[in-house]
Amino acid sequence: MTPLEVNQMDRFANKVAVVTGGSSGIGRATALAFAREGARVVIAARRPKPALETVKEIENAGGTACFVQTDVSKSGDVEHLIARTVETYGRLDCAFNNAARTDETIAPMADLSEEDFDKTVSVNLKGVWLGMKYQIRQMLKQKPKGGVIVNTSSGNGLGGCPQASFYSATKAGIIALSKSAAWEYAQEGVRVNAFVAGAFRTPMLEGSMDRAAGGDHEARKVVEDRWIKMTAAGRIGDPAEAAEAVLWLCSDASSYVVGHSLIVDGGLSSLWR
Ligand SMILES: NC(=O)c1ccc[n+]([C@@H]2O[C@H](COP(=O)([O-])OP(=O)(O)OC[C@H]3O[C@@H](n4cnc5c(N)ncnc54)[C@H](OP(=O)(O)O)[C@@H]3O)[C@@H](O)[C@H]2O)c1
Repeated sequence: MTPLEVNQMDRFANKVAVVTGGSSGIGRATALAFAREGARVVIAARRPKPALETVKEIENAGGTACFVQTDVSKSGDVEHLIARTVETYGRLDCAFNNAARTDETIAPMADLSEEDFDKTVSVNLKGVWLGMKYQIRQMLKQKPKGGVIVNTSSGNGLGGCPQASFYSATKAGIIALSKSAAWEYAQEGVRVNAFVAGAFRTPMLEGSMDRAAGGDHEARKVVEDRWIKMTAAGRIGDPAEAAEAVLWLCSDASSYVVGHSLIVDGGLSSLWR
């Protein structure tokens, strides 16, 4: 093992990290990566089973983690999540606000309901704001003061997306919320950035591709091929590759990166931005 590898493995020693949506996909990969690099990890999600499986996986590998059942759209749950984190591990150093849902109905916006709008906005956008609200309060009052926050946006949030307008609007809003928070708190020691995800192979992406194919096996292959052809990398990303970018944003190596929206998408958006 080289000295660099030793340092890499210690990057988050003695740190405490909260990962919302840490039981699946990008959040799960990030929770595992944080733990591998020494952090004590709090996994927040609604369903206990996959969350507890992730905790077990971390513990079996010698790491430290716990699960706090949380619906990120509920203020009381998010306040409780941060309180439990501090009770259990003493402080909060890194927060990855990553939980989200896709639009339930795939349709142009004039055909969508107020209920669809409220559901998507309350989880994706309000959930990120609530996360930051309680995380920032904790980071400002703890000693030593400060911390790092990363919020998950999407390539859809860089422009828009037909048939997914509410989801895209929330993901654009997350970039604005992140930049606003970055300016409001950077000089008080809280560093905030957005992670803008392209296509990563997770249950959310698989579900979106299944829905777009309408249950047809051949159509499903065409949908997936279309995604692959849109990336310069010629493939869909592995959630572990997303985790690497998030950990870098949370690490001291990115200490001068503030209010950034880091696009990690295999080149998908590179031709039009
Ligand atoms: N995968 C992609 O290609 C892609 C592309 C662009 C952006 N993203 C973004 O990346 C993030 C992670 O997505 P993913 O693909 O990894 O999705 P995923 O595998 O479906 O995981 C979603 C996670 O969020 C949790 N969650 C959902 N609603 C929640 C709520 N109300 N409160 C608390 N937790 C909730 C889920 O657990 P429970 O259901 O148990 O609550 C699960 O742990 C999302 O912000 C997504 O928009 C993904």
